[in-house]
Amino acid sequence: MSNRILHKGLKAKVMSADAAAALIPNGATIGMSGFTGAGYPKAVPMSLAKRALDEKLSGKPLRFNVLTGASTGPEQDTMMSFVDAQRFRFPYQGDAVTREKINTGVMEYQDMHLSHAGSLVRHGHYGKVHFAVIEVTKILEDGTAIPSSSCGNNNVYLECAEKIILEVNEWQDERLEGMHDIISVSSVHGERQPIPIMTADDRKGSKYWKFDVSKVVAVVETSNPDRNAPFKAPEEIHKKIAGHIMDFFQGEVKAGRVSKHLTPLQSGVGNIANAVLVGLNEGPFEQMISYTEVVQDGMLDMLDSGKLKAASATAFSVSPEGQVRFNKNIDRYRKQIILRPQEISNNPEIIRRLGCIAMNGFVEADIYGHINSTHIAGKGIENGIGGSGDFARNSAYTIFMSPATAKDGKISAIVPFATHIDHTEHDVHGVVTEYGFADLRMRSPKEKAKEIIDKCAAPEYRPLLWDYVKRAMKNPSAGLQSPHMFSEAFGFHTNYLATGDMRKKPGK
Ligand code: COA
Repeated sequence: MSNRILHKGLKAKVMSADAAAALIPNGATIGMSGFTGAGYPKAVPMSLAKRALDEKLSGKPLRFNVLTGASTGPEQDTMMSFVDAQRFRFPYQGDAVTREKINTGVMEYQDMHLSHAGSLVRHGHYGKVHFAVIEVTKILEDGTAIPSSSCGNNNVYLECAEKIILEVNEWQDERLEGMHDIISVSSVHGERQPIPIMTADDRKGSKYWKFDVSKVVAVVETSNPDRNAPFKAPEEIHKKIAGHIMDFFQGEVKAGRVSKHLTPLQSGVGNIANAVLVGLNEGPFEQMISYTEVVQDGMLDMLDSGKLKAASATAFSVSPEGQVRFNKNIDRYRKQIILRPQEISNNPEIIRRLGCIAMNGFVEADIYGHINSTHIAGKGIENGIGGSGDFARNSAYTIFMSPATAKDGKISAIVPFATHIDHTEHDVHGVVTEYGFADLRMRSPKEKAKEIIDKCAAPEYRPLLWDYVKRAMKNPSAGLQSPHMFSEAFGFHTNYLATGDMRKKPGK
């Protein structure tokens, strides 16, 4: 038995993952740890999946409502979705098998702002949380636990669940101790106090998870890695997008609207976000700080170079090489990185107080600046809104970025009308593609359309978009604030569905 379980009572609760999973009845609502492939339980979900498969073969479906922080990993989302063990999933996913089950109607998914998810559960909107299954690094003598590589909604699930199962993962470095700052907000409406985070690197909470030890029914020992995806070097297109963002901020510094330290950075994950971090690391800005959701490789680079003073997040999302570097330098990173529960890392109060810079990807943007972050052709889910809404609504600068086209140019990311709107034009200050940066500030919707089409759309789509706008403007009876033609607003999408190319009309 590992020396990571120091509490005597909890040591006596050690059992196999299969035995722990057997305690969870069909239909239970389970709050699991996990955020962007970090800190999710790796053994109990696999055992639940195995059990669900056995039951399925004997004709008895075994299905659960699974609440997490955000995306998890193959042992949880892929395996449980594969055997249809997830009836309902909340508040975010990014898994191919789960996506397929959702989009084929086998599984229900509620996509939710990540800062809101915990509060909603705490207030009972999701019914009883029967079990919390939470990965930790170590259980201490006093019955508290050192969190692992993500915080997510763990505090909420530990507080609300009727029963708790802990996975103690020896793969997680014990020297994570001290990196976390756990603040829980009140569950009573009207009793919430101001959250005392005044700067991105403030620490005002506890280093440990605190929970009612008597609720723990099982402790499972594991030694499995997080889902650390390999890092891809930025491609030319991503570098161009990053370059436009750098130019924009240099202009802001020159205009005196922001200092060369910028304001706290929030950056989504993925190739464009990493390219932006590379650009920031090589650019003229100094002594930056980040208040974001996820620490990725690009942020480790910036911490190493000294360009970034500190990073506040709720989880890691690093490559295998990034993990090696992280473990090697963990004593320094512990002073520079703070992991917080997601209701704090994504909290609107703090984001607005700090005046963050939000930079996130989009699926499609329309000519008036409405953003679709989640749905392909308005119907199928890609991942989810994640924290993009938390940061978009409340940041000082809100920028959305994407390549101008997808699928070899057959899809334009700039469309007449977004088929699903996650962020309205009121939240969006800038849209950027490899062609340029559309600055939407102090512009009416019609002026935004000119900026977006001329700066961001791929050249082959610009005449089609202008044709749409000009004809829509000829119909003043419909109103000229945001001119549209309902009969053609989704023409790009219907073309694509009929011909496989947004530029080609059926029969042409
Ligand atoms: N129509 C159809 N498919 C599209 C598309 C469009 N308009 N735009 C992108 N796609 C497809 C791509 O072709 C790709 O498909 P593939 O996996 O089959 O190759 C897939 O969607 C992902 O696109 P990609 O260009 O690789 O983008 P990405 O990895 O940068 O992700 C989002 C872009 C929008 C999906 C991603 O940023 C996201 O999920 N955002 C919402 C959550 C968020 O912002 N989180 C951070 C908040 S803190």
